[in-house]
Amino acid sequence: MDMLHSAQDLRAAVGRWRSAGLRVGFVPTMGNLHAGHFSLLQTAREHCDRVVASVFVNPTQFGPNEDFARYPRTLDADGQGLAEQGCDLLFAPDVATMYPFGTDGATRVEVKGVTETLEGAFRPGHFAGVATVVLRLLNLVQADVAVFGRKDYQQLLTIRRLVADLCLPLRIVAAPTLREANGLAMSSRNQYLSAAERGQAGLIHQTLQQMRAAVERGDEPAAIEAAALAALDGAGFRSDYAALRRAEDLGLPEPGQRRGLVALIATRLGSTRLIDNLAIDA
Ligand code: PAJ
Repeated sequence: MDMLHSAQDLRAAVGRWRSAGLRVGFVPTMGNLHAGHFSLLQTAREHCDRVVASVFVNPTQFGPNEDFARYPRTLDADGQGLAEQGCDLLFAPDVATMYPFGTDGATRVEVKGVTETLEGAFRPGHFAGVATVVLRLLNLVQADVAVFGRKDYQQLLTIRRLVADLCLPLRIVAAPTLREANGLAMSSRNQYLSAAERGQAGLIHQTLQQMRAAVERGDEPAAIEAAALAALDGAGFRSDYAALRRAEDLGLPEPGQRRGLVALIATRLGSTRLIDNLAIDA
């Protein structure tokens, strides 16, 4: 596996594959890779002949009081893991390569609608940072397929919308969430949790499952959300939201709607903010 840092080298390498008629898959990440990321790589492999991963901790998607400075950076281990997983190329740019005119550059991509609720409401500017860096990465890599995890469900919808609205010539494939044995969704941010907190954090997935069971029983969305918040915050979490939404656009459920929903949670345990979600198709 080659590790490339410059946009020019990346374009040359992918260009050679494309002119040989090979299909190229792409998995963008912020590094500190875990089995969840590697599963995305395998998904890309199923659809393509060559797989490119990127590792870039994108400053523009972190708020001023968020964890950009302490986000775990483990490029050597990431490169080793990707090579073992059969990745063909790792693109690991620095900030100047991704933002040659600075991070306050003139062009910023804002996807309306789906970004204006939930994470977008609690993390102003986050999705503009994500959409901007993903568009830049997609334009640099020129892949046929890019794979994103359902773990970040609102991000997945945002990227799908970005690709549709800007007619980007590639397909977005969604991959399922990989979890620890206790249900905790794998995440680079789980590094911040103590061993005891990792155990406790299984409650997030349990709460999502309870939300799904309550939908299947026919409970009202407002009551389901209130019960979920009470379960989490009663156990020492500090939650931003526990929400029941339409899976297609994160709008509020129609009265009596029981299918095509998603339950989403954002909550804090100690100083760590965790998000997770569960599809509901009763
Ligand atoms: P990062 O958090 O590193 O995640 C990279 C990809 O891995 C995303 O598509 C995410 O949904 C997926 N992923 C994370 N945890 C997962 C799990 N437990 N199971 C399956 N997939 C999982 O998301 C980002 O980086 C950034 O916002 C990025 C898109 C790279 C833009 O900077």
